[in-house]
Amino acid sequence: MENFKDLVQKRRSIRKFTDQDINPEDLQIIIRAGLMSPTSKSTRGWHFIVVDDKDMLEKLSLCRSMGSQFLAEAKCAIVVLGDNQLTDVWCEDASIAAVTMQYQIADLGLGSCWCQIRNRFMENGEPSDNVLRYLLHYPDNLSAECVIGLGYPAIERKPQNEDGLKWENVHIGLYSDSEEN
Ligand SMILES: Cc1cc2nc3c(=O)[nH]c(=O)nc-3n(C[C@H](O)[C@H](O)[C@H](O)COP(=O)(O)O)c2cc1C
Repeated sequence: MENFKDLVQKRRSIRKFTDQDINPEDLQIIIRAGLMSPTSKSTRGWHFIVVDDKDMLEKLSLCRSMGSQFLAEAKCAIVVLGDNQLTDVWCEDASIAAVTMQYQIADLGLGSCWCQIRNRFMENGEPSDNVLRYLLHYPDNLSAECVIGLGYPAIERKPQNEDGLKWENVHIGLYSDSEEN
């Protein structure tokens, strides 16, 4: 396991992937990380749909007017759903699960990128969530927060630049406008 301090610096969004198959055991470890993520009142209302069929990945890539195209190239996608009837914080729970899986993906040497679904639309105004519901057959009480596209990185990305961190957005004790100081 990678040191977490280094892992958070090295994780970058990856939108280009090689043809290399993902080891099924690695995929299980990734989903396990999502299933271990914290949820409000421990409701654990999320659902994850794992898609590796090339045709379906291409269909998913068209669910938004922009920002989703990279899914066509992904080796696999995890559609992250929350139960909107079970909890009013389904999107927080789903987001935490998604990002937990992203760090696990990075730790395994794979790459991933988040594709936003909630509040996103097709060119014709159709909500992207409806498009996914139609394609993947999930019920109305579930809503998609995002799709995580993953695979082995086809490009190398630089780690986060330590010097570019927005320390000015961190306030100690009280909010302070750094421009005024
Ligand atoms: C809430 C959220 C929504 C995002 N939506 C998309 C998206 O729809 N399509 C995409 O290509 N990247 C998306 N991203 C990835 C961001 O563009 C990326 O995290 C950001 O540019 C910082 O780059 P890094 O992840 O390499 O540090 C999203 C990330 C977050 C956290």
